[in-house]
Amino acid sequence: MKKSRNTNSTLKFSMKTSADHPQEDVLTTIKAQHKVLKESIKVLKDEEAAVHLKQRHLAQFLPYLKMHSEAEERTIYATLEEIDDAQVATIEAITEHALAKSLVSELEKKDFSSVWDSETEAKAKVLAELVEHHAEEEEEEFFEKARQNLARIELVAIGQEFRSLCREFQAREAEQVQPRRQRGHGERPVMKSH
Ligand SMILES: [Fe+2]
Ligand SMILES: [Fe+2]
Repeated sequence: MKKSRNTNSTLKFSMKTSADHPQEDVLTTIKAQHKVLKESIKVLKDEEAAVHLKQRHLAQFLPYLKMHSEAEERTIYATLEEIDDAQVATIEAITEHALAKSLVSELEKKDFSSVWDSETEAKAKVLAELVEHHAEEEEEEFFEKARQNLARIELVAIGQEFRSLCREFQAREAEQVQPRRQRGHGERPVMKSH
């Protein structure tokens, strides 16, 4: 496998809190997190990308995706699922999350930081493509449903809750860093909520 142009790029994930954007609506936060996910999607889909780069990206993509999906489900999805006009779009999104979760848990069982086999390569690529499609649809159809059915003040309040859940997730993940390192899972990247 050839090395990609990105091989030497530094993964620039750093922690940001909602204190930086208290009035940011949830759709803006989600879109910003999609941007972070898309950086890894690009690498994971690239057959020419270096293995060590894919390993690093997958190691941060999996927890970041879990944080993002969990926060969506517990905030904006939960709200829109109750609104008739947005129900189909929300159930569609939840179904895509379930498909992604199953691939995430399969990849988590693999020691991909040490061994990057064909199965990991293939599953990481499928996950990346699935999330790419999902994020695009979310930004087009789902965001439209949210804007049609919720006032800006509600979207801001949901945004605060969303970012708070992301911080809780990151705190839980940080507590697990030590045991994972002891099991030889290697370096863990620092995540940012966006
Ligand atoms: Fe989603
Ligand atoms: Fe999303």
